[in-house]
Amino acid sequence: MKILVTGGLGFIGSHTVVELQNSGYDVVIVDDCSNSSENVIEGIYAINAKRPVFEKIDLREKEKVRDFFKRHPDIEGTIHFAASKAVGESVEKPLLYYENNISTLINLLKEIIGKKKQSFIFSSSCTVYGQADQMPITEDAPVKKAESPYGNTKQIGEEIICDICKVNPELQAISLRYFNPIGAHPSAEIGELPIGVPQNLVPFITQTGVGLREQLAVFGDDYPTPDGTCIRDYIHVVDLAKAHVVALERLLKGKNPQNYEVFNVGTGEGSSVLEVIASFERVSGKKLNYSIVERRSGDVITAYADTKKANDILGWKAGFSLDQAMKSAWDWEQKIRN
Ligand SMILES: NC(=O)c1ccc[n+]([C@@H]2O[C@H](COP(=O)([O-])OP(=O)(O)OC[C@H]3O[C@@H](n4cnc5c(N)ncnc54)[C@H](O)[C@@H]3O)[C@@H](O)[C@H]2O)c1
Repeated sequence: MKILVTGGLGFIGSHTVVELQNSGYDVVIVDDCSNSSENVIEGIYAINAKRPVFEKIDLREKEKVRDFFKRHPDIEGTIHFAASKAVGESVEKPLLYYENNISTLINLLKEIIGKKKQSFIFSSSCTVYGQADQMPITEDAPVKKAESPYGNTKQIGEEIICDICKVNPELQAISLRYFNPIGAHPSAEIGELPIGVPQNLVPFITQTGVGLREQLAVFGDDYPTPDGTCIRDYIHVVDLAKAHVVALERLLKGKNPQNYEVFNVGTGEGSSVLEVIASFERVSGKKLNYSIVERRSGDVITAYADTKKANDILGWKAGFSLDQAMKSAWDWEQKIRN
């Protein structure tokens, strides 16, 4: 069965390609390499000796998207990762984010709807909840006004898919709301490759660990949490990748009672910034150079998932611990720096 993975050279996409191939699917990757490199294919090949088909296409170009689907009429499912994802950059360049994250989705859906049954998985985010009123966060928690254009593109993306599903019963879709993906494949053949200064905690920690960054700034230790630092739900990227495979199979096998569903994908456990640092120090045997600085505006204090829906309905559960995820991130960082 042939599955399209957009953004399949990126961090989460590449790990999902490996898991799809491990489950017997034929994968076609479409990526414009705007935030990734073609070398990722060699990393995938090194893991499982399977080379996915790759086409370099910018999904904003609707004629190219149309042509792609004409050449691949046998695609039965799409996992749509391709998007721009830097929250800070989205505040500076909102038009780029609305164009890239919304037009790519529309161009894909235009080609997918109206065909025979099609399965579609959308990369959404826990950012849609903002600072939720209750922990852990269930899928029923209200979607709050987005803090950034990036977050807004995820909310709008979900709404677009939901509206289209209402009038296109052949379209079977799931939005997966990721919490905080970290880590790398245990083989250290693929992982996260942030361009420039990392926006996320874990790559900043590992880059500081190898000496690429001088010091990690911890934004605030006076939050109302046990150690005063912000709490997030860090999920190993391989666990997240596996969630895509089970979600896709739910659609392909017609196990979904509604043609649009939403699932949280997290571990269900919150870890503070200081706990993540302690985990890094445990697995690397290194002391991390960090200092506490002022709070950063816009940071949510605490966010961790209620994973009951994904556990019960998808039959999926995160398996890796925080230490295992940090170890894989550290192994990957050392490999790419060597
Ligand atoms: N990483 C996270 O923390 C996180 C959290 C929640 C949701 N998400 C979402 O998950 C998805 C994947 O995230 P990631 O961390 O793997 O990001 P990534 O940047 O590593 O991967 C995205 C890939 O999409 C490609 N791409 C971007 N625009 C494209 C276009 N117009 N045409 C074709 N390819 C294009 C990039 O080159 C890149 O390879 C994104 O939609 C992101 O918003 C990520």
